[in-house]
Amino acid sequence: MEQYAIKGGNPLVGEVEIGGAKNAALGVLAAAIMTDDMNIVDNLPDVRDINVLLQAMESIGVVVQRTDRHTVKINASMISGLVIENEYIKKIRASYYLLGALLGKYKHAEVALPGGCNIGSRKIDLHIKGFKALGATVKIEHGLIIADAKELKGAHIYMDTVSVGATINIMLASALAEGKTVIENAAKEPHVVDVANFLNSMGANIKGAGTDVIRITGVKRLNGSEYSIIPDQIEAGTFMFGAAITRGDVTVKNVIPKHLESTTAKLIEMGCQIEESDDAVRVVASRRPECTHVKTLPYPGFPTDMQPQISVTLALANGTSIVTESIFDNRFKYVDELAKMGSNIKVEGNTAIIEGVDKLTSADLTAPDLRAGAALVLACLTAEGFSTVDDIKYIERGYEDFDVKLRGLGAHIEKVESERELMKFKLKIG
Ligand code: UD1
Repeated sequence: MEQYAIKGGNPLVGEVEIGGAKNAALGVLAAAIMTDDMNIVDNLPDVRDINVLLQAMESIGVVVQRTDRHTVKINASMISGLVIENEYIKKIRASYYLLGALLGKYKHAEVALPGGCNIGSRKIDLHIKGFKALGATVKIEHGLIIADAKELKGAHIYMDTVSVGATINIMLASALAEGKTVIENAAKEPHVVDVANFLNSMGANIKGAGTDVIRITGVKRLNGSEYSIIPDQIEAGTFMFGAAITRGDVTVKNVIPKHLESTTAKLIEMGCQIEESDDAVRVVASRRPECTHVKTLPYPGFPTDMQPQISVTLALANGTSIVTESIFDNRFKYVDELAKMGSNIKVEGNTAIIEGVDKLTSADLTAPDLRAGAALVLACLTAEGFSTVDDIKYIERGYEDFDVKLRGLGAHIEKVESERELMKFKLKIG
């Protein structure tokens, strides 16, 4: 089994190049099948969730050609089926975007119910509500969501909860619907804007993405385009907290600092110095982090996908912090793992009360999900001695070369596959 072997104690120091945003790329790739023309998508992260989505697209006849590690050419002119049930797709949440894309283009889609990280109940009622409002019938049978429509007609859709996935999915389906669609209480995340920008570059007519009202005027057809995915704010934020927790000095490069504002605001409260330039942010942490309180919220609030990373950092802060998770209902599972390192965190419902401790000790841990897995790695980087983090398949869903990038910043971390390789790592690092 693959795991990360880590010897903690080194501050992270240096520069790290941030890749394309996984969650934006998932929406963009689904949108790319809505035309019969060729699309070229660049700055794609080479991570498991993306590769699974590409495989699923290939399984229905989409021709996917990787021209280099981060660029694909997509030709969906020969789609031969509208049923996506290959076993991998069930593991990723964003499989649902194929529903919106295929429904928009072919007025029919059958996609296996989505999986994804087990971070709480992850409903799809808002997606279904949106498709129904556009005139589709939607039913769930034999583990498949089946959406069908004679025609799709624009509609006024109010989202009861702010949902990234439902907002993007309704944008996809309505881009080729007849007439106007208005999505109220839409998600404002940068990846919603990125998918809208890509669709517009394909000839769609979408206005207001990035605000809470998105207006889509359906067009008859979409054309091919060339597009570069925005940088991954969560990957960037993870390395920024990596600087804070190890008392290091890290510059994240190829980022959009505006997308990182909620993260930089918290890091400043925690006593870090921040330097911003056009496409980079430097985090200098010369002392123990200060405690703070944080509540996860839809963008531009503090992202739920950064909650484990700030929490592990606060586990070492001076004083008591309160972290409230308001998006998902089961996102503190990593706390039990962190406790093995000597943290002092009490979880009550959706709130974690974190008493900062002076140090964390090395331990053998298991990644419970993608972001929590990355956060546990950060915790291990602070602990003297050797630690391991198991189940890194979760981390690899969303981080490209996480270990390589951390090594570039001076960390002692290696991916090992056996007890023997672990011993070799220990002997090498000493
Ligand atoms: C996306 C991201 C995920 C991130 C999350 C919140 C992708 C592939 N994943 O997930 O990394 O953590 O946004 O920023 O982009 N909800 C409903 N009904 C629905 C849909 C959602 O009640 O039909 C609720 C969810 O239970 C949750 C909240 O809405 O409480 C937000 O979920 P949503 O924004 O939809 O998350 P995802 O799109 O699944």
